[in-house]
Amino acid sequence: MKKILWCIVAVALLLGCREGKVREISIIPQPQKITETEGTFTFNSKTTITEYSDDSTFLNAVSYLQERFGKAAGFKFGCEQTSADDPTATSGENRIIFRKDNSLKQEEYKLDITPERIVVASSAANGAFYAVQTLLQMLPNEIYSNEKRNCKWSVPCATIEDSPRFSYRGMHLDVCSHFFDTTFIKRYIDLMAMHKFNVFHWHLTEDQGWRIEIKKYPELTEKGSVRKETVIGTLYSGIYDGTPYGGFYTQQEIKEIVEYAAKRCITVLPEIEMPGHARAAIACFPHLSCGLEESYELATRWGVFRQVYCPKDETFAFLEDVLTEVMELFPSQLIHIGGDECPKSSWKKCPHCQMMIRKHGLKDEFELQSYFIQRMEKFINSKGRSIIGWDEILQGGLAPNATVMSWLGEEGGIKAAQQSHYAVMAPHTKYYMDYYQGDPDTEKLCMGHFVPLKEVYDYNPVPEVLKPEERQYIKGVEACVWTEYMENPQRVEYMAYPRALAVAESGWSNPSGKNWENFVERLQDHFGRLDARGVNYSKNLYNVFITITKDDIYSKVATIRTDMPGVDIYYTLDGSEPTNASNLYTKPFVINKSEVVKARAFLNGKPIGVTATKGWN
Ligand code: ACM
Ligand code: ZN
Repeated sequence: MKKILWCIVAVALLLGCREGKVREISIIPQPQKITETEGTFTFNSKTTITEYSDDSTFLNAVSYLQERFGKAAGFKFGCEQTSADDPTATSGENRIIFRKDNSLKQEEYKLDITPERIVVASSAANGAFYAVQTLLQMLPNEIYSNEKRNCKWSVPCATIEDSPRFSYRGMHLDVCSHFFDTTFIKRYIDLMAMHKFNVFHWHLTEDQGWRIEIKKYPELTEKGSVRKETVIGTLYSGIYDGTPYGGFYTQQEIKEIVEYAAKRCITVLPEIEMPGHARAAIACFPHLSCGLEESYELATRWGVFRQVYCPKDETFAFLEDVLTEVMELFPSQLIHIGGDECPKSSWKKCPHCQMMIRKHGLKDEFELQSYFIQRMEKFINSKGRSIIGWDEILQGGLAPNATVMSWLGEEGGIKAAQQSHYAVMAPHTKYYMDYYQGDPDTEKLCMGHFVPLKEVYDYNPVPEVLKPEERQYIKGVEACVWTEYMENPQRVEYMAYPRALAVAESGWSNPSGKNWENFVERLQDHFGRLDARGVNYSKNLYNVFITITKDDIYSKVATIRTDMPGVDIYYTLDGSEPTNASNLYTKPFVINKSEVVKARAFLNGKPIGVTATKGWN
């Protein structure tokens, strides 16, 4: 009987896909302008692609589209290349035409879909690639399948004119706290590409592990990539697993990732931490430290450590060697040099550091940090690249050409912009994906703050205090994925999605169209696409959040929150499961010691999410 039921479900799904009505246009991030028109365009095995260009501008976009259709639909399109000035550039039937339009900006594209043909116009490879990403989101979700599906591969007719709000749209990944293999890195990059991110910030060195092969210093990966054990629970637990943990990327693997990302219009931004978060390197080469400790080892718990690089000639020579190999591997114009969380306690005690302060007429250890960063900046600038660093590179004076990644709050970004320096906004209270997105009482361990999806979505990355002429220095946004409490790829996806989509939307879309209800509507369509890709995203949006606040010794006040538009919250106090006949929540209420609040959101009378429970304690 079960088998028969499954067959009916499978046939219904198949028919639904084949016969289902063409979806409404629902895209994340929201394009700048969509004009819907009549009809649909249907892809089939006879559809052909024509590239009107004299070079390889459209190569990546075309092969991405071909690959997706090859896998999901079981057919690839024939493709021909024709001279860019061919007058028939926009005619012919059952065709997808890629056309160069030099009047469009970098990353901009125009997508014109009629029943006869699809015309993609862009001046550069990235615009065409983004047009393909938009087109894929207009198709049935099955287009994201890696197995052949029988669908009617139709898209609604429309004209879409689109370009990003910011030139920098980043996602960061810490591969030091936990290590992720190249298969997952590629998947991470593919998901970024789907949402038009264009910078993969690869956090490669830390106190707990050095993850990039450096040919001149094999010790960095032989020894520096393996910590002897890892803390269990928070960094304060004092309990360790007793199991060595490690991993690193060979230079060959890194080249593959850089190339893979480039094909998806994503620049890989490498981060080599200095002067702090350097314990893994110092464990291999203790002479690079201030030499105040009995021994140096990789960190086995999370946090900030006093063992940092000492600003001496050997250290600068070492870092220059490392960065020379890094710059050979990564074509990125920006090189991330960290700069965050460098305690000054060792420098205060170190005779060499104190001598450096006197010799260079520096005021204090903060100016010594600035000296350190400026010296490294000179080296990086001499190779034609520029530095980006976390907020703390502002300490003691900003290096002349530096970009600031503002994580402590907005102040770093504001200060940078006011000094005519570029800034990327990644304030931890908004854009740190390692923070709780659901109730800490029921979620697995995360970092401390509560940053639900709506909080991420509502954040405006251009601080109001900036004058109009200063606002141009806000270069973009970044979602940060620190992995102390993310031990595997599934956990990374759960923490990053869907919150990264809110960052993607702030990075790409026009802020005048910002609308939470509309975002949630599109998000629910988008969940179908993420399902098709097997992404382990969080569904916390559907859950309610109960807070119990102290009143007096005999009473407490219960408040129930939901960010999900259009739902009713029902609750019980007697321990029973809430139904749509239970108490309807309208405002905070008083509970006594014996009562337990159980609450759930209902959409159109149907329960969604899971039941939240909170009692007196
Ligand atoms: C940081 O979170 N330490 C940049
Ligand atoms: Zn020192």
